[in-house]
Amino acid sequence: MSDLIPTEVTIAPSVLSADFARLGDQVAEVMAAGARVIHVDVMDGDFVPRLSMGPIVVGALREQVSAAGGLIDVHLMVRRPERFVADFISAGADSITVHAEATPHIDYAIAAIHDGGCRAGVAITPSTSPQALAEVADVIDIALCMSVNPGWGGQAFIEGSLDKLKRMRAILPDHVVLEVDGGINAHSAPRVVGAGATLLVAGSAVMGASDPAEAYSDLLRAARAATAA
Ligand code: DX5
Ligand code: ZN
Repeated sequence: MSDLIPTEVTIAPSVLSADFARLGDQVAEVMAAGARVIHVDVMDGDFVPRLSMGPIVVGALREQVSAAGGLIDVHLMVRRPERFVADFISAGADSITVHAEATPHIDYAIAAIHDGGCRAGVAITPSTSPQALAEVADVIDIALCMSVNPGWGGQAFIEGSLDKLKRMRAILPDHVVLEVDGGINAHSAPRVVGAGATLLVAGSAVMGASDPAEAYSDLLRAARAATAA
């Protein structure tokens, strides 16, 4: 089994907002600043309207990320994700998250992810009830609350996500990591932490910043200030 997903408050930079001509350098910059979870967004042009990246990008980053003691967190925004789990495992994913809305076979997909030695997550979009996680809460490692509609970086945080995170936390066993994705910045980060999230994905606020390393450190400080409050 891969290393554990961190349980302390953690910022996971999303490479979706990176400059792809400088992807390796930008990942090195945020990892030098302390980032240990690198989030990779996979879009299929069907479950969500746009296309993004696939296993090749995971494979290109795997050595660099694992040599620096990090994990690759793959977020599959694809229909019938169970078809692609094996490809992402071979490419070097450490955790793979599938959408509850994307397949009738969530339990099967989770089992396939675990069989491949990865941590398994289930994501829900803003219109899906936390109850969608109830039957699998005992077998997942990560529950992901989308705080924007999946498919694009740079959207505004949906405020109703704060209450939803609390409801998700309430039905999840303690060991399940609560991840939040979309619109995370210095304003929303402390509030999602206050609502129970510990793994915060940030695309435009970190990788889209002029200095990703500095943006990562500033955002982590803002998020962890809420823990202390
Ligand atoms: C959106 C993706 C996110 C995206 C977040 O569909 O799942 O991971 O990179 O981008 P920001 O942080 O800019 O909202
Ligand atoms: Zn994502």
